[in-house]
Amino acid sequence: MMPAAMARRLPLLVLLALSALLGLSACGTRGISVAENAPEHHGAELFAARCSGCHTLGAVGTHGSAADIRTRLRTNGPNFTVRKENADRVLYAIRNGGFSGAIMPQNIVVGPDADAVAGFVAKYSGLGKRQNSPSQGAPAGAKGSP
Ligand code: HEC
Repeated sequence: MMPAAMARRLPLLVLLALSALLGLSACGTRGISVAENAPEHHGAELFAARCSGCHTLGAVGTHGSAADIRTRLRTNGPNFTVRKENADRVLYAIRNGGFSGAIMPQNIVVGPDADAVAGFVAKYSGLGKRQNSPSQGAPAGAKGSP
C-alpha cells in the first residue's frame, strides 16, 4: 500500500465523488430495463437523463421521488412506479411544468423527444412497487402528495 496504490485509488475516489454528484441520472442510465430494440427505449433514456432527478420509475431504476414523506424535498415529483400516467398527462406536465406549474421545469424535452418520453411513461408507469423499497408503499394512493 505505497504511493502507487494511492495513486491508483485516487481516480476511483474522484469517480465516486462524480457519480455521487451526477447521482440519480447516472444510476438511471444503468438501470434501464426497457429492451434496446423496444420502441420506448429512446424515451426511457431521455427519462433517465432528464426526469430521474425528481421522479421514481422502476423501469429505468430511478429514485427521484421521495421515499419517505418526512424527508421529502419540494422537488420530489410523483413516483411513476406506482402512479399510472397516460401520454396526454405526461405531455401536459412537460409543457406546463407539472400540473401545478410551480416546481417542475417546463419543456425539459420538446417535439419528438417529448412524445418519446410520454410514450415511455404511459407504458411503463403504474406497473407496481419496487420490491426493495417497502417505504414507498405507503404514499402509493396518497392523493395530493405531489
Ligand atoms: C426539478 C424536478 C422535476 C423534474 C426534472 C421533472 N419533474 Fe415532473 N414533477 C415534479 C414535481 C415536483 C411534480 C408535482 C407537482 C406538479 O405537478 O406541479 C411533477 C409532476 C409531474 C407529472 C404530473 C404527475 C401527476 O400525476 O400529478 C408528470 C406526468 C411529470 N411530472 C412528468 C415528468 C417528466 C416526463 C419529466 C422529464 C421530462 C419530469 N417530470 C421532470 C418535478 C420534476
